[in-house]
Amino acid sequence: FTDGPLTGRHVLVTSGPTHEPIDPVRYIANRSSGAQGTAIAEALSKLGADVSFVTGPATAPRPRGPRITEVETAREMLTAVEAALPADAAIFCAAVADWHVVNAGPSKMKKEAGGLPALDFAENPDILATIARRNENRPRLVVGFAAETDDVVAHATAKRARKGCDWIVANDVSPETGIMGGGHNAVTLITEDGAEDWPRLTKVETARRLAQRIAEALA
Ligand code: C5P
Repeated sequence: FTDGPLTGRHVLVTSGPTHEPIDPVRYIANRSSGAQGTAIAEALSKLGADVSFVTGPATAPRPRGPRITEVETAREMLTAVEAALPADAAIFCAAVADWHVVNAGPSKMKKEAGGLPALDFAENPDILATIARRNENRPRLVVGFAAETDDVVAHATAKRARKGCDWIVANDVSPETGIMGGGHNAVTLITEDGAEDWPRLTKVETARRLAQRIAEALA
């Protein structure tokens, strides 16, 4: 991967789910495969970008090209993202858990102890909003994702404002779309100019288009 429109640019990509421990052997997770994030990181590399890829425990293969940091929890992901800055652009593809278990213990919970476990939750940091809203070292282009099941454009437009990011890539993850964990995606790109529907494409093709748009925005 040599010369391209993104040569000399540093782009950060987060990907995959996070795992939030309950005890040393159990965790809370979600169905994100990391496929879209991996495809975006590879597409950016192919355009010449220097890519930092911060991933949770994803089942998708790791991208070829990027510098890879593996993390488990949302809190670890934020630390790794901050360590990877500065960047010209940051693409937040990860399906970050909203909460972590505060009373996760150092030893395995035993069913023989009787009763039912009681989990106490605390909110995880919002990595996208944290980076998008900072004044120092804010990437010039900050892109978030929005997985919605209804009113996709309205919810994603509100999310763009709430998080302070430049673009939102929104998709409908209702089970019947087969998007989460599948090979295809149909996204709507929300920018300052409004909403743009993209056709149903493979995740690799969606990634190529997005990488191209990122190159144009950074040119
Ligand atoms: O609020 P919601 O989870 O729908 O927002 C999705 C977007 O925010 C994605 O880009 C995701 O990577 C990012 N996010 C994050 N940290 C969180 C939650 C979401 O970076 N704790």
